[in-house]
Amino acid sequence: MRINDTVMVTGGAGFLGSHLCDRLVADGRDVLCVDNFYTGSKNNIRHLLSSKQFEFQRHDVTFPLYVEVGRIYNLACPASPIRSAWKRKTFKCSSGRKCRGTASCGHSASTG
Ligand SMILES: NC(=O)c1ccc[n+]([C@@H]2O[C@H](COP(=O)([O-])OP(=O)(O)OC[C@H]3O[C@@H](n4cnc5c(N)ncnc54)[C@H](O)[C@@H]3O)[C@@H](O)[C@H]2O)c1
Repeated sequence: MRINDTVMVTGGAGFLGSHLCDRLVADGRDVLCVDNFYTGSKNNIRHLLSSKQFEFQRHDVTFPLYVEVGRIYNLACPASPIRSAWKRKTFKCSSGRKCRGTASCGHSASTG
């Protein structure tokens, strides 16, 4: 996996994230999928786990994660409004400042 060509998809085991991972791998990209399986499922990415282009890391993005990637798609937020209300800290990450270059996801989690 070449670092700058790697795309990180947070929430990559969710509905949209897993389809995005599918597309990126099909396009020949190296993908780092990050998810805590809060609403997502390993079943959504099981078919990708054997791919050399695909790497999975179980992690809650409201905590810092230091990885070097070229691009980040942040979909780590439950789609359901009811579930989202339960997981308020997820909003803190999803509405935080943009990550660029070297990833530092979850940086906004400690801001109140
Ligand atoms: N599904 C839609 O039609 C739709 C439409 C417009 C916008 N969106 C938005 O796109 C995003 C993703 O939607 P979805 O349908 O794929 O939802 P989803 O719940 O299927 O996927 C969200 C993924 O994020 C993961 N996640 C949640 N909190 C996390 C955390 N703290 N750390 C790591 N992983 C975490 C979940 O486990 C899950 O895999 C949401 O923000 C949603 O509001 C969805």
